[in-house]
Amino acid sequence: MYLQTLTIAAAISIAGLTVKFSGGDPSTTPDPMTTATPVPSTETLEHGKAMFNISCAPCHGADGTGNGPISANLRSKPRDLTKGIYLNRSTASGELPTDYDLFRTITTGLHNTAMPSFRQMRQQDRWAIVQYIKTLSPRFADSTEYPLDVLNVGTQVLPSPQSLERGRTLFLQMQCANCHGSGGEGNGPSASSLVDDFKNPIRPTDLTNPSDYKFSHSVLDVFRIFSTGLNGTPMPSYAASLSETDRWHLANYVWSLQSTDQYVDGRNTDSPAPKQTGSESSDSQQ
Ligand code: HEC
Ligand code: HEC
Repeated sequence: MYLQTLTIAAAISIAGLTVKFSGGDPSTTPDPMTTATPVPSTETLEHGKAMFNISCAPCHGADGTGNGPISANLRSKPRDLTKGIYLNRSTASGELPTDYDLFRTITTGLHNTAMPSFRQMRQQDRWAIVQYIKTLSPRFADSTEYPLDVLNVGTQVLPSPQSLERGRTLFLQMQCANCHGSGGEGNGPSASSLVDDFKNPIRPTDLTNPSDYKFSHSVLDVFRIFSTGLNGTPMPSYAASLSETDRWHLANYVWSLQSTDQYVDGRNTDSPAPKQTGSESSDSQQ
């Protein structure tokens, strides 16, 4: 096992995946958006609104409440963007997402839900939409919400048999299995009774099934998701209860449930193929 130092703003390479946590436009600018961002120009907001009305309102509704014309036909309900409650974040439990978190969601979409990827849309259009959707919830204009506490990923532990073993112990110890099941298949004892803050039934992810992951495209995403927790869902944050090193072991274990062959010397050839290639990393920007 060897260690590789990571910082949240650094472009890093893990097991062939190029993962970039830097955001901003141009893409070399780090994303220190932990404080309220300067008020965007009226022009940007108007452009963002126009783009939103074309691309997002059919599902999220012109007012952002999630009741767009095609929402009734969808299995997973479009998010009510007026609440300011976001699952896919790099910030502490209960906090708002950073601008880059929103940009990431719009860019990658949420796999296995109706929320599409807008990778093909021009970057400046995606950024304008980010600014516009922040105006839909009063939380973003509330100065008491800032500064945001952005996740520190510490020093990455690369996968090894020892790391996976430690990760499995932690998975059971931290009671991930209550919801995700002891094999990670999403069938724990509490799995069937969960409801989210929007009053929709919610199901723990089947961590063994690559196509059941909504948010994670890399082991770093897994680390991020269970460290920050998913606001608005029963899935808590584990940033305070586990050291960074232990969280890397746990992330390695969870990720190995679906793509062990990628990491353990190619010995496990029975596991499903990894669902993403390096160029598709969730944090890559185009
Ligand atoms: C075809 C329907 C559809 C379209 C079009 C769509 N969305 Fe979504 N969106 C969804 C659904 C469904 C969810 C909830 C997915 C889930 O978590 O189950 C969602 C969730 C989200 C989230 C929540 C992410 C989080 O962290 O919780 C954001 C932000 C979002 N959409 C923004 C947008 C923006 C911006 C656009 C337009 C550029 C857009 N969506 C277009 C269906 C759509
Ligand atoms: C109280 C129930 C509960 C517990 C305990 C729980 N989870 Fe979850 N978890 C969920 C639910 C529900 C979701 C799905 C949220 C969604 O689909 O919007 C989820 C989603 C996830 C995801 C996101 C996968 C993706 O990319 O879509 C990961 C990773 C994860 N959990 C790991 C863990 C780990 C590791 C633990 C223990 C440290 C844990 N969970 C404990 C309920 C739980």
